[in-house]
Amino acid sequence: MSEPVRLQKFLAQCGIASRRKAEGLILSGRVSVNSKTETNLGVKIDPENDSIRFDGKIVKPEKDHIYVLLNKPTGYVTSLSDPQGRPIVTSLVKDIPERLFPVGRLDLDTEGALILTNDGDFAQKVQHPSHETNKTYEALVSGHPGKAKLNLLEQGILLEGQETAPASIKLLKRLRGQSLVQITIHEGRKRQVRKMFDFIGNPVIRLKRIAYGRLFLKNLPSGKYKLLNHKDLKKIFL
Ligand code: URA
Repeated sequence: MSEPVRLQKFLAQCGIASRRKAEGLILSGRVSVNSKTETNLGVKIDPENDSIRFDGKIVKPEKDHIYVLLNKPTGYVTSLSDPQGRPIVTSLVKDIPERLFPVGRLDLDTEGALILTNDGDFAQKVQHPSHETNKTYEALVSGHPGKAKLNLLEQGILLEGQETAPASIKLLKRLRGQSLVQITIHEGRKRQVRKMFDFIGNPVIRLKRIAYGRLFLKNLPSGKYKLLNHKDLKKIFL
């Protein structure tokens, strides 16, 4: 008998989702162990002898891990399916046979760098707050936020009762009635960048993620992707 592992960890090893996302899948009744739906997060399974299914399909640990950097266009959702029938990001990496899932999310109306993988542990590491993985965005915002307002965002503001962690901000360009601002944060709260600029009264008009850590999108065209190698992956955590 092989070492028992927690069901959510096993699902992550099988490339279904990050461990945390896998917990949600278990709770929503989409996972079965030996033909019985399992909604208990504490349960451990025997990877060799138990039969684990996700949405009715047998899952197996991934042997090869794939990492892809996609330049997500606006209008695509980062979930694996969409009840409203909107296009999903994985449809842009059709020619890779492995089942990939996005690492974290980008809003429907946000474009730019999105990593997809079948490595649940890696996804967990990128997203876990303890690793403080930097994400850099270019935000086209309305108006001309002055130094004082940008300093405020850098130091941290109270968003929904919780202080934001320090950010780093650079004013890139002043345009007519708008500004282009670069902002780096390591938190990943929902619509965080948009909410931060709303807070100072300069709402976001366009938002693009340009980097995870020091891994930049550079000139990857919108809707295109490239495979990442180990050297690329190292840059994420710098
Ligand atoms: N912050 C946002 O507001 N939206 C994103 O998609 C990512 C970060």
